[in-house]
Formats: sequence, structure tokens, C-alpha cells
Amino acid sequence: MDLRRLRHTYDARAASYDRTVGLGERVLVGGLRRAFGMELRGEVLEVAVGSGLNLPFYGPAVERAVGLDLSGAMLARARARGRAEDAALPIRLVQGNAQRLPFSDGAFDTVAVSLALCTVPDPGATLQEMARVCRSGGRVLLLEHVRSPVPPVAWLQRLLSPVQERFIGCHLARETVTTLREAGFTVRSERRRLLGVFRLVVADPPPDGGGTDAAA
Ligand SMILES: C[S@@+](CC[C@H](N)C(=O)[O-])C[C@H]1O[C@@H](n2cnc3c(N)ncnc32)[C@H](O)[C@@H]1O
Repeated sequence: MDLRRLRHTYDARAASYDRTVGLGERVLVGGLRRAFGMELRGEVLEVAVGSGLNLPFYGPAVERAVGLDLSGAMLARARARGRAEDAALPIRLVQGNAQRLPFSDGAFDTVAVSLALCTVPDPGATLQEMARVCRSGGRVLLLEHVRSPVPPVAWLQRLLSPVQERFIGCHLARETVTTLREAGFTVRSERRRLLGVFRLVVADPPPDGGGTDAAA
């Protein structure tokens, strides 16, 4: 799905997004959102922040945060959530494209993404941009669903993926952790859930792509 259609799709889904992912997501993702929040450090960029479902889980090590998304309607939900959850939550929300991040090199200590590398048209370009805006010594954090290493599950994912891709731009069987390694990231830790479908990955950006230590 191209960027224009993705933006329209998520603008249209924004009002019902939290409800539709709700119960299913709690069963599928379990405690991984909480664990994701606890891995965030310092100046944080959350790429494709959506309706801000991770915001309530941001841990105490977050100093300041920026959330970016293509969809203005999803960002409006995130803005409301940020206010409702914690009036002091220091998050700035920006509309933009993950494949061309509007930030300087090395601007963030943590660059994070959840359940969106399945949706962006070009996950390789997005990871490159995430590496560029991450300072050297910083971390990149992923909470994603990927192709399961269990063959019958992977088969089912491939079978169902075209429908998801068509309606919400979500690819069920991307091998995102492989793409991450191929892009030169070093995986520091990886937690798996549900037959390897869900992964929480903490990674070091590639040494040549981590940018300098410029301010955000
Ligand atoms: C499935 S939702 C996930 C939202 C949120 N990260 C979460 O965990 O609930 C996918 C999000 O990716 C955003 N998105 C897709 N492609 C994008 C791009 N190229 N740049 C920025 N955001 C994008 C969509 O607007 C949508 O909010």
C-alpha cells in the first residue's frame, strides 16, 4: 500500500483503532508493551506512534519524547491519550514519514517502533532512518510481529497476509529481525512470544549509520 493510501486508511481507522486491537492485542502481545516501555531511555523517538497505545507504559528513564506518525487522526488520539494518562508526559507529536525522518543525525538516545514495520512500505529504509537519527551508543527498540519460525504458523501467516495487506497495509509474514541484522544492527536482546510471532528486540545501530551526537 502506498503512503497516500496508508494515511487515508489510518485516518479512517483512528476512531476505532484502540477498540479493534483491544482484547485481541492484550492476548497476543501480553506484557510486551510494558516491557517495551521499560526499555526506553533518555530522549526517545517513537516512530509510527499511532494512537499512542505505548504511552501509558513509558518508564521513568524517559526524559523527553517525540512521536511521529503519517496519520493526523492517529496523532490526535495519541495527543488525547498523552493528556489523559499523564498531563506531564513530555511528548511532542509530529506528522511525517518514517522513511524520511525530519530529524537530525544522532538526535535521540532511543529510537523505537511497535507493530509498524509490518505496515511501512519499505522497512529497510525505515530502519536506516532509525539508525541515522539514533546517537552512537544509543539503542533501537522494536516490538513487532514477524514470520514465525514454526512452519505451519508461517504458512497460515502467508495465507492470511494478502487480506491484511489489502485492507490495512499490514504484512503478516515479514522477516523484520532478519532485515534488521542485514541492515547492520547488532541484536542485544530478543524476547519471543506466541511461537516466535511477536518479538521485542533491543539493538545497537550499525556503527556507520548511528549519526553523531547532535541535539534534537
Ligand atoms: C498498526 S498501527 C501501529 C500503531 C502503534 N505503533 C501501536 O503500536 O499501536 C501502524 C501505524 O503506522 C503508521 N504508519 C504506516 N506507515 C507509516 C510511515 N511511512 N510513516 C509514519 N507512520 C506510518 C500508521 O499511520 C499507523 O498509525
